[in-house]
Amino acid sequence: MRLLVTGGLGFIGSTFIHVVLRERPDWHVLNLDLMTYAGNPANCAALEGDKRYRFVRGDICETVAVEEAVADGVDAIVNFAAETHVDRSILEPGAFLRTDILGTHVLLEAVRRHGIARYVQVSTDEVYGDVSSGESLETDALQPRSPYSASKAGGDLQVLAYWNTYRTPVLITRGSNTYGPRQYPEKLIPLFVTNLLDDQSVPVYGDGLQIRDWLHADDHARGVLHVLEHGEVGNVYNIGGGNPRTNVEITRMLVDACGRSMDTHVRHVADREGHDRRYAINCAKTHALGWTPQVAFERGLHETIAWYRENESWWRPLKNGEFLAYYKRQYAHR
Ligand code: TYD
Repeated sequence: MRLLVTGGLGFIGSTFIHVVLRERPDWHVLNLDLMTYAGNPANCAALEGDKRYRFVRGDICETVAVEEAVADGVDAIVNFAAETHVDRSILEPGAFLRTDILGTHVLLEAVRRHGIARYVQVSTDEVYGDVSSGESLETDALQPRSPYSASKAGGDLQVLAYWNTYRTPVLITRGSNTYGPRQYPEKLIPLFVTNLLDDQSVPVYGDGLQIRDWLHADDHARGVLHVLEHGEVGNVYNIGGGNPRTNVEITRMLVDACGRSMDTHVRHVADREGHDRRYAINCAKTHALGWTPQVAFERGLHETIAWYRENESWWRPLKNGEFLAYYKRQYAHR
């Protein structure tokens, strides 16, 4: 299997590459990544020298870059390349439309042109929008409400249109909120852990009673691999952790684990604009395909906290420069 992984220097993409090369020893992976702020070479540094792994810097929106990446022959593409942070999408939506919609289109065209056997679009449960009760099914209408989720939904709709129109062999996974080692410290869990380790406060949006379903990155990666190998083309598969928690519950677990206090280290700040209260997905279809999450949430979270504690050299350089400018823009007025 010759796999093209896009966005493989990011959090979930790099986790996927590690899982693939560990569990499928005869596979080869080409990693095409633009190295934006969230694409970190350190995430795949352990693979340097591995003959099965190759990295190329490039933009999925550029046809030439994608053509070069598939030129030597590719059996499947798994697309992790995306702008993913909701708060950034509220500040500057343009980059999200470009990468998440146009980038998907360029990849789909390559699949079609070269007759590539399988394409997996890694998407998100956020495309279903706010779910006040019950659980979203793969067949539910998409009702995205943020520039980020609307961009991901646009990508998903392109993918499904290619199946319907050209019978391009596509699959979509829709994962829930993902956590684990090597996540860029703008997202809830790594932001809060690194702030708390630094004895800084953490900004909870609004009342903090929003609900997310937490999925370990290893489980997410194994879910995508399972869909790549066993999914039926033209289908969508939900990949959820089965760990619904309010943000306040998560905050309390992190505060306790870092030895801080809710009174001194937690600030309730102005809510995110258009904040979705709850996501919840029904994963029966993916379970029936043979995938279930393996990592128990409490264990996964404590191992993740331990990883950030032990890998300061990974995250401390990231919380400078670009990040500080973003942090100020995002939080100073709150
Ligand atoms: P996030 O990690 O940004 O993921 P998403 O928005 O894609 O679900 O946020 C998870 C939840 O945590 C979400 O309800 C927003 C909330 N949140 C805060 O309360 N404060 C923060 O500083 C951040 C980044 C998120």
